[in-house]
Amino acid sequence: MITILGLSQQPAEGPATVLGIGTAVPPTEFPQSSYPDLFFDICNCNEKTELKAKFKRICEKSGIRKRHLFLTEEILKANPSICTYMEASLNVRHDIVVVQVPKLAHEAAVKAIKEWGRPKSEITHVVFATTSGVNMPGADLALAKLLGLKPTVKRVMMYQTGCFGGASVLRVAKDLAENNKGARVLVTCSEVTAVTYRAPSENHLDGLVGSALFGDGAACLIVGADPIPQLERPLFEIQSAGETVLPESDGAIDGHLTEAGLIFHLMKDVPGLISKNIGKFLNEARKVANSPSWNDMFWAVHPGGPAILDQIEEKLKLTSDKLQGSRDILSEYGNMSSASVLFVLDQIRNRSKFLGSSTTGEGSDYGFLIGFGPGLTLEVLVLRSVPTGE
Ligand code: CAA
Repeated sequence: MITILGLSQQPAEGPATVLGIGTAVPPTEFPQSSYPDLFFDICNCNEKTELKAKFKRICEKSGIRKRHLFLTEEILKANPSICTYMEASLNVRHDIVVVQVPKLAHEAAVKAIKEWGRPKSEITHVVFATTSGVNMPGADLALAKLLGLKPTVKRVMMYQTGCFGGASVLRVAKDLAENNKGARVLVTCSEVTAVTYRAPSENHLDGLVGSALFGDGAACLIVGADPIPQLERPLFEIQSAGETVLPESDGAIDGHLTEAGLIFHLMKDVPGLISKNIGKFLNEARKVANSPSWNDMFWAVHPGGPAILDQIEEKLKLTSDKLQGSRDILSEYGNMSSASVLFVLDQIRNRSKFLGSSTTGEGSDYGFLIGFGPGLTLEVLVLRSVPTGE
């Protein structure tokens, strides 16, 4: 057996499991119904009446009731460069996200560790994804310091993954947990939209879609194999993880870090590209679950936008309850990029409790966790739920 800095490098016996989940959002909430007025006011764009009417239409169709954003009116008024289309503002944006991304992650991590119920000194690894800014040393070390983790904690920092990062962190954590006996991995996604906030412009209509959908949030999970009986309670097992790039999807979702912040591009066909290709890839994954029907499974799908959920539901003929967890999170928080799908997993186990289901997967034994983002990359995990004792 090889031992490096106190960690055995023998493989674990069982699959990686999720042992705790915590989430956090900034305190200020923005109702979607009044957001168009606020957004056009603060960006001094009220004369763009047609654009504002279009933005209102997008907000009305967004499936969102409210979002939480760190950028309050006061902060935006104090930093007008963020609200001026394409003005150099990266320094201001970065000063915000470099502090706020680990801070929000810390709030979520404290909750995840509390649910896990073990001392934080048992955390051996940190896997962190964010698309909200970059820094050296990274948000992973900032979080480790805020939590007071030991200096030998092994860190993986994943910057600029976009929304599929929520699945990538779990794929990496699964490998770490299953290949290092005793490993306990703190998995984190934290997003603060100060880096993408963009004033409305006729030259960037897909930016308008982002302004209507994106919100801030952080989610943390504790992942480890071979849970200690009586001391650790698994919520889900991670059975398999895979990733693919969808055919003919170049440029469908991309982002470029510029002096004016991170500029996102979304093609109108994103929902179509995903729904057209998802069945083929999921069929492969479904073999792991040995599940005869899509509707036998539970579904944690990244809530990128309502059209994506609608088209997946229609294409795979899912019953309307299957994507309810994704729709709930979209409605209450918007699209929080990488953190969203982890919020959805949390919502699924909460719904299972609320519904009195027999498993943490709303009564199903197996389910999918699905992230997608730039590439167009589709990332899928097959999860196994655990009995709730109901
Ligand atoms: N670019 C520009 N305009 C767009 C657009 C796009 N990608 N998608 C929709 N629109 C415009 C339409 O042209 C329409 O304009 P008009 O009202 O002037 O005709 C308006 O938005 C409303 O569209 P629809 O009437 O077709 O309404 P809808 O029911 O389709 O709802 C929507 C609009 C909420 C944007 C919906 O289309 C949707 O959910 N789209 C998917 C959004 C998306 O791509 N999300 C992924 C985000 S990226 C991500 O999550 C991963 C990451 O890495 C960050």
